Amino acid sequence: IQSRDGLLELNLEASLSPLNFNAQQAYLMSYNRQLPAPRLEAKAGDTVRIHLTNHLQQPTNLHYHGLHVIPTGTGDNPFLSIPPQEQFTYEFTIPQNHPSGIFSYHPHHHHLVAEQVFNGLIGLFIVRGEFDTIPEIEAAKEEFLVFQDFALDAGGHIQNTNQMDLMRGREGNLLTVNGQIQPDLKIARGGLLRLRLLNASASRFYRLSLENHPFYLIATDGRSLSEPVESEELLLAPGERAEVLVKGEQEPGHYRLLNLPYDRGGMSMMGGGMGMMGGHHSMVNTNQSMPQVLATFTYQGTSNPLPLPTKLMPVESLATPKKVRKIELSMTMSMGMGMNMAFLFNGQEFDPNRIDAEVKLNSIEDWELINVDPDGMAHPFHLHINPFQVISRNGQPEPYRAWKDTIVVRGDEMVTIRIPFRDFTGKTVYHCHILDHEDLGMMGIVNITA
Ligand code: C2O
Ligand code: CU
Ligand code: CU
Repeated sequence: IQSRDGLLELNLEASLSPLNFNAQQAYLMSYNRQLPAPRLEAKAGDTVRIHLTNHLQQPTNLHYHGLHVIPTGTGDNPFLSIPPQEQFTYEFTIPQNHPSGIFSYHPHHHHLVAEQVFNGLIGLFIVRGEFDTIPEIEAAKEEFLVFQDFALDAGGHIQNTNQMDLMRGREGNLLTVNGQIQPDLKIARGGLLRLRLLNASASRFYRLSLENHPFYLIATDGRSLSEPVESEELLLAPGERAEVLVKGEQEPGHYRLLNLPYDRGGMSMMGGGMGMMGGHHSMVNTNQSMPQVLATFTYQGTSNPLPLPTKLMPVESLATPKKVRKIELSMTMSMGMGMNMAFLFNGQEFDPNRIDAEVKLNSIEDWELINVDPDGMAHPFHLHINPFQVISRNGQPEPYRAWKDTIVVRGDEMVTIRIPFRDFTGKTVYHCHILDHEDLGMMGIVNITA
């Protein structure tokens, strides 16, 4: 769905309804009965007007992940609640100088985010602009890949979660790309393929590699790198996006897009927890030890050889700020009647009535994200509205400069990010993008004032 004459206007109906899925009927939550949700496309400067109707039996709302837009009123406001059977119209403008890239939209209703996203409510939001007009990028074949995982019971309903699912973040054993299991994608021999990737899962990490083909990373989250970076694999945590170019230079054939094993830490407390949870079936499949096939690529036809671009969009260098803030990421678990757990920033659970960080508009801050989780689990930290750059990990500078809005902080890691707060005042949030952790308290409020 594209904008026309500077306006992106559409109706989105959130419902729980039967959909055709993997040759069976599944009862999933969707927007407009589509899985993944319709892809929205706008340009910098456009007005966005979305009429959301809530046909779910629980409240919901919308968040525009990664967009640099107004965080209050009818903009990217995470504090709204749209009750069942009601409608709400979101309306905001994408700034004229907004970068072009991959963003997403999904619900953000506290305590219901993991459930609603895991049930299917998430889609791509693309902003088009200058980046897309770089000749080699324009000439490349564009493919969107949206990764979602599901756990269905025999009746086609999403499985219930247990305590372990919540602790790790819920994952399903059905891995889908664009709503399909192992789709086959076509690539022309000699040409360039531009893969635009979104991890739309609630908790699953994807460590991607494409057989016999390196990736040339050209964008991280919603923004261009300054030049392509060659890599053999790519880690995408929940909420993260990336763009890569793939050269169609191999022998014609089928090549598999693989999800390689990845250890996101955090099994040490499991032993203790297991006893309490004994007997319960878990949907979690965290001990993946074999590569999984996500999709295949098949060469079809030939095209004129295309070179890689040498230069992309410049990535601004940010001045070193005086203001440094520390945020500790942790969890607690207590055994009482059942098991209680909470995920925390600086020892506190989310409180909608507390401001955790007061910042000044037009200031730059360094935030030190320190993972002190006793269980050593990796947490993908995400900030709304204002993108940031990673400065260092455990004191080691990053190899190249890039914009991000979601960044993995592994167990025992300290990641320093540099954030310019620009253009918009108001309250917004930062949180762990393992959505069960967000729902269980790992979220804070930042208030930006003039
Ligand atoms: Cu994609 Cu606040 O999240
Ligand atoms: Cu977001
Ligand atoms: Cu987390």
